[in-house]
Amino acid sequence: MHILNLARNRKTVRAFLPHSPPENLVLKAIEVAREAPSGMNAQPWHFLIVSNPETKGKIRETCERMEKEFHEKVGGELGNWLKERKFNWQKPFLSEAPYLILVFGIRRYPYWLQSVWLAIGYLLLALEELGLGTVTYTPPNPREVEKVVNAPEDLKLQTIMPVGYPADPKPKYERKKLEEIVSFESI
Ligand SMILES: Cc1cc2nc3c(=O)[nH]c(=O)nc-3n(C[C@H](O)[C@H](O)[C@H](O)COP(=O)(O)O)c2cc1C
Repeated sequence: MHILNLARNRKTVRAFLPHSPPENLVLKAIEVAREAPSGMNAQPWHFLIVSNPETKGKIRETCERMEKEFHEKVGGELGNWLKERKFNWQKPFLSEAPYLILVFGIRRYPYWLQSVWLAIGYLLLALEELGLGTVTYTPPNPREVEKVVNAPEDLKLQTIMPVGYPADPKPKYERKKLEEIVSFESI
């Protein structure tokens, strides 16, 4: 099963080689996302590709400002998880990756949120097949980034996916066992 190998091999990548993949590879991956199912077939998504260093710099600056506030406050399970992995407010991948794909959902449609995240799932596997790495980075306050790129009111930023050739030694994280996540007939 090809898709099983892709899913098993895919892992989050937060560091990238400096040289840029051709733009048509990024478009190829988005062609896959375009095939995702959606409520009412509304296709409530928009993909903004940013490679301009100035815009990437502005996005990074905005996100890191919000991340600083977030990291001062975050506690509980998420706080511990982040600390264990030494994640902090710095997000160098936002300016170092050759491309950022900003994925927006169009909120006037029913099931827009479920649909846009399905498309993101498709995109993740397509990038893997093309030998490209990414992270589904979710900024603490997406509205601030929406302002940077002048997004229309109806477009809601879901994730910023930095894309490039992977250079992240991070291992693949363990998955729960099949028996843990599946039950038959009753829970
Ligand atoms: C909805 C969602 C939000 C995420 N947000 C972030 C994020 O803001 N920053 C980050 O570094 N990784 C983020 N991730 C990546 C996860 O941390 C990562 O997928 C998870 O730890 C499993 O690792 P793997 O993708 O390498 O298997 C997010 C993933 C998802 C699906």
